[in-house]
Amino acid sequence: MTLNTSSKERTNGLSKIKFFFGLALGFVIMQSVVFWGVRSSSRQLLFRTDPSSDRIKIKAASLRFEEELRQIEHAASNNITAANQSSPWLIAAASTTTSTKTEEGQQEASLDSVFQLPFYIYDNELDWSVNATIFRGANHSEWLNQSGFLNYKHSDDYWLLYHAKQHPMRTFNPREADLFFVPTLLSVWNFYGFQGDDSQNKFCAHNGICNLQLLKRAEQLLLESKWYQRSQGRDHIVVDSHWRKHWKQISGSRLLNCNSISFENRVPKSGNAKQYQVPTGGRVHIPSFYVGRPCPSSSHANKTHDFALIASLKPNNPNFRDRSHVCNWLRQRHHNYTVSVCGQGNQCPALGQARFGFHVRGDTWGSNRLMDTLLTGAIPLVTSAEQIKILPDFVPWEDVSYTVKVSSEAAFDASLQSILQKSEQELQEKRTNISKHMDTFNHKKRQQFDLYMHRFAQKLNLY
Ligand SMILES: *[C@@H]1O[C@H](CO)[C@@H](O)[C@H](O)[C@H]1NC(C)=O
Ligand SMILES: *[C@@H]1O[C@H](CO)[C@@H](O)[C@H](O)[C@H]1NC(C)=O
Ligand SMILES: *[C@@H]1O[C@H](CO)[C@@H](O)[C@H](O)[C@H]1NC(C)=O
Ligand SMILES: *[C@@H]1O[C@H](CO)[C@@H](O)[C@H](O)[C@H]1NC(C)=O
Ligand SMILES: *[C@@H]1O[C@H](CO)[C@@H](O)[C@H](O)[C@H]1NC(C)=O
Ligand SMILES: *[C@@H]1O[C@H](CO)[C@@H](O)[C@H](O)[C@H]1NC(C)=O
Ligand SMILES: *[C@@H]1O[C@H](CO)[C@@H](O)[C@H](O)[C@H]1NC(C)=O
Ligand SMILES: *[C@@H]1O[C@H](CO)[C@@H](O)[C@H](O)[C@H]1NC(C)=O
Repeated sequence: MTLNTSSKERTNGLSKIKFFFGLALGFVIMQSVVFWGVRSSSRQLLFRTDPSSDRIKIKAASLRFEEELRQIEHAASNNITAANQSSPWLIAAASTTTSTKTEEGQQEASLDSVFQLPFYIYDNELDWSVNATIFRGANHSEWLNQSGFLNYKHSDDYWLLYHAKQHPMRTFNPREADLFFVPTLLSVWNFYGFQGDDSQNKFCAHNGICNLQLLKRAEQLLLESKWYQRSQGRDHIVVDSHWRKHWKQISGSRLLNCNSISFENRVPKSGNAKQYQVPTGGRVHIPSFYVGRPCPSSSHANKTHDFALIASLKPNNPNFRDRSHVCNWLRQRHHNYTVSVCGQGNQCPALGQARFGFHVRGDTWGSNRLMDTLLTGAIPLVTSAEQIKILPDFVPWEDVSYTVKVSSEAAFDASLQSILQKSEQELQEKRTNISKHMDTFNHKKRQQFDLYMHRFAQKLNLY
């Protein structure tokens, strides 16, 4: 459904939007995806050799960086020409990572932090990225590369391992490591390999170990690892962000006893069932961001619509009720704004054409839609506080989104009108805020990995 009323009649000033953000985003997305195979030969103990002098240099660089960023933001909110001219610089600066480890080490995870503790990635058969093959039905692809998995919303097991492997603080000596990264690809496993060994779908690694056997092999290797034995997983991290869980397949899972990047807030709780108990005390579980699938973004000057919600409505499923409400309510008031698509439809170009993208719950509170929206350069409209609670807490979500009430039609109308009445300056500020965090939302950038590791280290009291 496209509500195609005249955008010229809008009184809210949205049509005047001009901003460098679309341009900048294009730059980020154009950056080609490279695949690993590059052994990290560039490990630098940059932050460990001479901590005191490094810290001063790092701090200075970080202050300079913040000052320049402030100037850019100032320019952006006052002078569109200047903002446009500086946008390539802003992106370049945002991807230049500097470090801000402080004396206390308790600083908020931020744009300019590089994770600084040495970590080890198991390089035995726990690494499921080696010699891996996927079978879907009869045909197989050599590696995820060709399978389409890398655009999948739960593919952060792949992406985080990819960044881990090239990280400057990766150590090849487990004795030096403060943290251990377990390179099992549990989302790949949950997507392709969960169906049992006689299934037509298979996920195999290491020359033919597949599905349940692959999982059992990983459990065995952890059990045998002296590093795992030393800590019972207390200093181990695994990505387990798929909604489907391997837990039920393995009694007394060692993987389950690691810290994890989890699916929303569904983490193993002691007391669930005997075999899922975490015997050695708490572990840290940080929810996954989801992997986004952006549309090419129109520049803000070119945006043709105000709102988009591209989502299945499933009217008979009570979890989806708010989605139908939003689409019905939007349709009734279309004379004041335009909607590219609400409901079933193609995400692109509809999301790229919209200034705001709704994030409304479906099966669960979260989805890749929030990342899709942010990466596409639309401002997300969150519709429940629960949607924020199931996200990593190291992003100030209220700075990069607006909230729209969906508790009633009247509440919806009121909050929508308040969004439409936002000044152009404020909207630009919002977009600047989003662009500051863009590398965090972009799974192809290393920053997401750094922020996760930083938060694990904080919560595990390693600083
Ligand atoms: C940004 O700059 C480019 C080239 O300098 C120009 O073509 C484009 O129209 C500008 N965009 C805006 C939104 O001002
Ligand atoms: C905007 O910025 C450009 C480039 O920095 C500058 O030449 C121009 O004078 C500025 N315009 C205003 C109104 O400040
Ligand atoms: C695998 O099967 C799918 C459909 O089931 C097909 O689209 C694809 O082309 C096949 N790939 C190969 C390599 O045969
Ligand atoms: C991914 O595909 C490219 C080109 O098809 C290939 O060169 C590369 O080796 C593949 N990467 C992996 C990890 O298989
Ligand atoms: C991966 O496969 C190649 C070619 O079959 C083999 O030489 C290599 O030893 C394998 N590596 C691992 C770690 O299994
Ligand atoms: C904006 O629209 C103009 C005219 O349709 C087009 O030439 C230009 O490429 C568009 N720019 C972006 C960034 O989409
Ligand atoms: C359209 O929105 C404006 C605020 O931007 C509001 O004052 C006006 O009443 C709305 N018109 C209708 C018909 O809803
Ligand atoms: C932008 O982020 C800052 C914090 O960095 C926050 O104070 C401000 O309210 C945000 N602006 C908007 C429009 O959300």
